[in-house]
Amino acid sequence: MTARCFVAGSPIAHSRSPLIHGYWIAERSLDATYERIETTPETLGALLGRVRTGEFRGGNLTVPLKEAALPLLDRITPEAEAMGAVNTVMMRDGALLGANTDVPGFFAHLDHAAAGWDAQPRPAVVLGAGGAARAIVYGLMRRNVASITIANRSPDRAKLLAAQLAQPQAPPLEVAAWPPQPELLEGAGLIVQTTSLGMKGQPELEMAWPGALAGIVACDIVYAPLETSFLAEAARRGAVCVDGLGMLLHQAALAFGLWFGDTPTVSAALRAKITRDLQPQTGI
Ligand code: ATR
Repeated sequence: MTARCFVAGSPIAHSRSPLIHGYWIAERSLDATYERIETTPETLGALLGRVRTGEFRGGNLTVPLKEAALPLLDRITPEAEAMGAVNTVMMRDGALLGANTDVPGFFAHLDHAAAGWDAQPRPAVVLGAGGAARAIVYGLMRRNVASITIANRSPDRAKLLAAQLAQPQAPPLEVAAWPPQPELLEGAGLIVQTTSLGMKGQPELEMAWPGALAGIVACDIVYAPLETSFLAEAARRGAVCVDGLGMLLHQAALAFGLWFGDTPTVSAALRAKITRDLQPQTGI
């Protein structure tokens, strides 16, 4: 029987996930499909019902379903529970399970692209305090960082996030002013841009940069465009830059592994294929 998988969300037409999973399905000659399904929080229950009956092997959830899924599942992994967000679903031992591969995907890519970034404990900075920031702060708290400073347009949201995630044995969580000021990066080893700023069709991030960023790793989770103005500015100042496409590919690889028992490596050929697809259409 064909193993059917999906990515669900609204809007969903732009999702590159079918291209990514389709590549691995073809590479392995699997009898499997991966489709886009336009789904709102109101219709999510019905779609998850089709996972329960075995019609689908598994699925990915994206905006606006990652939080809405929580009460509809039988079990949630501790990571997804802590983040309050699920991006991968499947049946396990007769129960509908929700997992989150965004966080391990982000760190798999960061560790690959900037190996040794946390060899020394230095401060880390996170721009934004939404769902993506929550996931990344949660992951950073389990790495070798001296502190984590969150800067967000709405300071109360940053304070709430810090208060919710703080743990006695983990690196301290701090809150900084918006827009980000040059002092924010003093001594820092990592800065992660998690807001929607810089994404195609969104305003640019206005940030006051320090002169040089040598020794700092700068990540953006935005992947369209692949080189955001945040990454271009960071690169100009000497930072090691890590783009958002790697996180997308690595979270997908981990989800694929959960459904098919075989986690693909993220190859340069796949990256090149998706990069080509992300290029703005040219020609007449
Ligand atoms: P996600 O789950 O993708 O992180 P989200 O929860 O809607 O999405 O969070 C979006 C983030 O982008 C937030 O940090 C948001 O800041 P606010 O908490 O102040 O809303 C940030 N963001 C979105 N538009 C912004 C803008 N024009 N200027 C500054 N920050 C912005």
